Amino acid sequence: MRMRGRRLLPIVLSLLLLVLLCSIYFSGHQREASAPDDDDEFLLHLPAVEAADDDVASTLPGRSAATLPAGPLLNLTDFQYLLPSNVCRKAERELLAILIVTSYAGHDALRSAHRQAIPQSKLAEMGLQRVFLLAALPPRERFLSQEQLASEQQRFGDLVQGNFLEDYRNLSYKHVMGLRWASEECKGHAKFIIKLDDDIIYDVFHLRRYLEALEVGQPELATSSTLLSGFVLDAKPPIRLKANKWYVSKQEYPHAMYPAYLSGWMYVTNLPTAARLVAEAERLPIFWIDDTWLTGVVRARLGIPLERHNDWFSANAEFIDCCVRDLKQHGFECEYSVGPNGGDDRLLVEFLHNVEKCYFDECIKRPAGKSLKETCVAAAKSRAPEHGLAEIKPLKLR
Ligand SMILES: *[C@@H]1O[C@H](CO)[C@@H](O)[C@H](O)[C@H]1NC(C)=O
Ligand SMILES: *[C@@H]1O[C@H](CO)[C@@H](O)[C@H](O)[C@H]1NC(C)=O
Repeated sequence: MRMRGRRLLPIVLSLLLLVLLCSIYFSGHQREASAPDDDDEFLLHLPAVEAADDDVASTLPGRSAATLPAGPLLNLTDFQYLLPSNVCRKAERELLAILIVTSYAGHDALRSAHRQAIPQSKLAEMGLQRVFLLAALPPRERFLSQEQLASEQQRFGDLVQGNFLEDYRNLSYKHVMGLRWASEECKGHAKFIIKLDDDIIYDVFHLRRYLEALEVGQPELATSSTLLSGFVLDAKPPIRLKANKWYVSKQEYPHAMYPAYLSGWMYVTNLPTAARLVAEAERLPIFWIDDTWLTGVVRARLGIPLERHNDWFSANAEFIDCCVRDLKQHGFECEYSVGPNGGDDRLLVEFLHNVEKCYFDECIKRPAGKSLKETCVAAAKSRAPEHGLAEIKPLKLR
């Protein structure tokens, strides 16, 4: 026994040393290792410049939280930011626009797709920045933790998270939080606000062109406190069927019709207009259908007219799919600039990577007889850019 003990001692000691060395080595690599898996997969394909944004994000936590005045949000008296962002303040020159993207906190893969479709560094070159608007993870969320969101924030610095719970009935809080954050945090740092949902495909190049043209062509409107531009939904009645997800009781909304409003899929406003909407929203009772409330009820009280750009929008994800196909094969321009992703997280990546060439005049107009309606064969799942009317509609072809 003693003999064996003596011979074992050096082996045990060298094993201990090995374990010690390993633990030092791995603790040095913990930061890289702690990221969620599917995020890593996306990062592998990101251009090298995006990695540089990492060091910028590391200046974020703590300090910027203190600079943000939280205060009550509507009737949420204990409102706070769980994660703040300073993308506007740290911009080197005045931004043309800040993109605020409503995102369910658990949709980290979808946010990765947005970042891969167009990274922060590229947005910055275009005079743009983007944040995602999140709420607190509900207890039922099993796939993502607040720690993972904090590490996502460490990397990208583009999350704005409120402390109210994620729920579609809390979307009005999130929407007001986004408008308020942008109008306060981006004051003097950005001109326009582009509001988006995370499951929407949008042609960022088209939107930039629109904003640049607006500044030159209609400078009074561009700088007014009355800019609201997007898909106009004219007066609609509330859904009074109790079984419907979008059922609205008479207590919640007593009137027969909503005022005209903009689809929350995508709309454009500016900082003075957003500040007015937020201030007026604080004075009115909350209504939970966020776009109807803010760009309809609240807007109407302020008498702000809506700029109609319904022709930018497609209700069909299939049309966007066909657009990508035709851009790749023939370089045809897409007829639409905004549409739903139809549940395909990667469609935004495909779309933006292919549509960009049109802004270098490398696309051609669709020839006669080749419109999407004529060539995009699908029994399309159609969803109008409004709440509650999801339905399957066979498309009329030819
Ligand atoms: C805020 O108002 C909404 C709608 O009126 C109500 O349902 C909710 O309970 C209120 N929340 C608080 C914290 O007072
Ligand atoms: C909305 O958020 C508040 C505050 O966190 C929470 O109490 C409430 O339950 C949420 N509403 C829904 C319908 O989940």
